[in-house]
Amino acid sequence: MAKRILVANWKNHPSSPREVRDILSGLSRKAKIYKKHSFFIAPPLPYLETVSSRVKSLGYLASQDISLIEAGTHTGQVTPDILKGIGVKLSIIGHSELRALGETDKIVSDKVRMAFRSGIIPLVCVGERVRDTEGEHFSFLREQIKSSLEGVRRKEDITRLVIAYEPVWAIGKKAKEALDPSDLPQMTIFIKKVLTDMFGREMAEKIPLLYGGSVEESNAAALMETRSIRGFLVGHASIDPKRLNLIAEAL
Ligand code: PGA
Repeated sequence: MAKRILVANWKNHPSSPREVRDILSGLSRKAKIYKKHSFFIAPPLPYLETVSSRVKSLGYLASQDISLIEAGTHTGQVTPDILKGIGVKLSIIGHSELRALGETDKIVSDKVRMAFRSGIIPLVCVGERVRDTEGEHFSFLREQIKSSLEGVRRKEDITRLVIAYEPVWAIGKKAKEALDPSDLPQMTIFIKKVLTDMFGREMAEKIPLLYGGSVEESNAAALMETRSIRGFLVGHASIDPKRLNLIAEAL
């Protein structure tokens, strides 16, 4: 069976290097479980070094974004070669919190290509902002997936792609206010259909689908039991080692 994938998106937390070390120590207690999965930690940029030096016993380093600037002199930029050099294996791309700041599908698709060029796995986030009774979120999702992955054609790229379905309305809530696990399969079937139309069934089936949006220790098992996803992209619960350890166990 293919390994489960767990990505910890720490966003802008915690606020001190000391807390970073505490979180890593807490996760290390369950290192054996993390090693069974493909586990990635995406910390804020200033903590990349600290996480990089200690993540090996657990999994891999990830980044929360990737810059489109790769060459020249650019004050304030962290270029993909710096990420690669410090050990980043995967970049979260198109997170709704960056899309809310103006990141368009075109920028997302350019970043996906940049990740491939840099030898970094792109984890592309897609998801509707709202739901309506007419089912318009399906057409929104179809267009978002198509335009975010525009230009992805090569077989070797498609096989490195990872997609996270993150309904924006379900992010940052409590588990019971988020997506009902029984609603997940219809969304993942739809996403797989869109990917099949784009890349053909054989290639589409190789693309791992993750779920993100208020994954907590209380809903993780039920979400996995739907057998419709390969793992999770976890936000707020990922900075509490006890909670993330339970989520990793549920995987
Ligand atoms: P959440 O965040 O788990 O806090 O909902 C998920 C995400 O934004 O990736």
